[in-house]
Amino acid sequence: MCGIFGITGTVTDAADNVFVGLKNLEYRGYDSWGVALRSHEGIEITKQVGKISDGELATSLAHEAVGHSRWATHGGVTLENSHPHRVGNVVVVHNGIFENYLEYKTKLEDTIEFKSETDSEVIAALIYLELQKGVSPEEALTTAVQNIEGRFAILVMFDDTPGIWAVRRGSPLILGRGDEQTFIASDIPAFLEKTNVVNYLDDNQMAYLYNTDVDFWDLHTGEKITKRNIEVEWDFESADKGEHPHFMIKEILEQKETIARAINQERDQVDEFIKALKKAGGIYIIGCGTAHKAAMATEYFFAQIAGKKVNVVAASEMDAFKTFVRANTAIVCISQSGETADIMEVVEYAESVDATVLSITNVASSSLARASKVALPVKVGPEKAVASTKATTGQMTIGFLLAHAYADTFNKGLGILLGAAANINDMINPRYEEHIESVAQEFKDNENLFIIGRGSLYPMALEAAIKIQEVSYIHAQGFAAGELKHGPIALIEKGTPCIVLGDDQETISNAIELKSRGAVIIGISTGEHEVFDHWLRVPDAEMAQPLVSVIPIQILAYHFALLRGHDPDMPRNLAKSVTVK
Ligand code: AGP
Ligand code: GLU
Repeated sequence: MCGIFGITGTVTDAADNVFVGLKNLEYRGYDSWGVALRSHEGIEITKQVGKISDGELATSLAHEAVGHSRWATHGGVTLENSHPHRVGNVVVVHNGIFENYLEYKTKLEDTIEFKSETDSEVIAALIYLELQKGVSPEEALTTAVQNIEGRFAILVMFDDTPGIWAVRRGSPLILGRGDEQTFIASDIPAFLEKTNVVNYLDDNQMAYLYNTDVDFWDLHTGEKITKRNIEVEWDFESADKGEHPHFMIKEILEQKETIARAINQERDQVDEFIKALKKAGGIYIIGCGTAHKAAMATEYFFAQIAGKKVNVVAASEMDAFKTFVRANTAIVCISQSGETADIMEVVEYAESVDATVLSITNVASSSLARASKVALPVKVGPEKAVASTKATTGQMTIGFLLAHAYADTFNKGLGILLGAAANINDMINPRYEEHIESVAQEFKDNENLFIIGRGSLYPMALEAAIKIQEVSYIHAQGFAAGELKHGPIALIEKGTPCIVLGDDQETISNAIELKSRGAVIIGISTGEHEVFDHWLRVPDAEMAQPLVSVIPIQILAYHFALLRGHDPDMPRNLAKSVTVK
């Protein structure tokens, strides 16, 4: 995943700027970070293990810089494996995976003394070896990257040539054109304080940044290309924690208003989306992790509200279904970041067969939004915590609205959602949070926890498990309520905490079955029931019940994390934007 950032120009504040820029990209990976700074004395590399927000960078008079915030894929979290990587006169930062790197590493081991375990260092070696043939940097890069299988973005510096080279295939890279400096980064907000004039580097394109000049090439044809300068809105919403100790709780509490924001869609865009769905011979809704659970909830909404069967597949599992994706297929992609590699790979396949790509995404400038025929914005503002909360309810809000639009009952859907938004506003208050915290206190030392739900609350049981796992590291698992008796009930022992979503008669029967085996029941429902040992009340949101039911679980997960001494915003082994497969 990782964030990459580069700067060229004559101004000598590149060190400060790359440090700030990288901090903005920390959400993309926080295992280690590093920079290569070019001053008149040459290139100097600094690396540190750990988060850049805990790091320091000595001031220097650098006028060019490349930086990297790493999420390790190949090689442990060590200083040697941190980027930038240098081989001879070539310095590289890399986002992505060089899938076939071992083939080359093995071949080159006699020629190159590799210092790290990464795939990235092999890229630097390939470029270096091409350069040894006496070709130009652009020729060396063009030839070297042809060997790479997989999605990537790289920035390259050479000791003996000023400027920065950039190549993109699959991972985002955007240039920012300032008056005195040029920036290049994995996302726009990383440099937005400096400039709002951008060029998007597309797949299989290369750029050379020198001072404020930039040349672009198409890697396939080798031809130079020109790019239009695009002005983006200055008011890309920025996010800070405000009075809150963590982004996660701030974003959970923001759901008091974000559902109302998500509802506020351009009607003609919704209509165009629905027109594409109705025209389609088949509909696939894809997403990853939490967004996949929002897709599953949307599947229930379409079935229950519109009487329409849609196919929901985790994006990483779409390979098996590719043969069904044809020119008349609609692929609906749900993604907070709009950069998730597993999704973008399906999008590229869909484009290759002329299928229609539609999306629900929170980042309007993302690769996904730009590749979509219609991209409905989730509009919940930047989500910084790794654990998705307000984006999840925002995505489900749009899924719900679309199901109603499909059924021609848009205004009815709107009414239900507005009611849910108002009820959530009443539900989330300090007393409610304190109550949930006390429940977390009681179960914080349990290593296993189970969640059950039926119908559209089943995806929420799965989502609850993700939320609890990723921030508290408790082994949490979600099940369809009726499936327990087919196996998982064997896991229940005296004192095992089980969260039961809903209080319909069948689910209550399942809760009683659990309790009979010793489980302690935490009910999350509109009504209380005697089987519940603890009850977290949620308002009645009719068919939109998943939206309200997931919120107390988000709060519970947050308090589990705090009580177990973990940072909920940056959990171990994770990153916010998953741009590797
Ligand atoms: C959410 O809590 C997770 N961190 C994760 O599952 C996330 O939803 C997933 O990686 C998808 O990301 P996206 O929405 O940016 O595509
Ligand atoms: N594969 C590279 C590594 O493990 C880059 C990973 C990333 O994109 O963060 O260092």
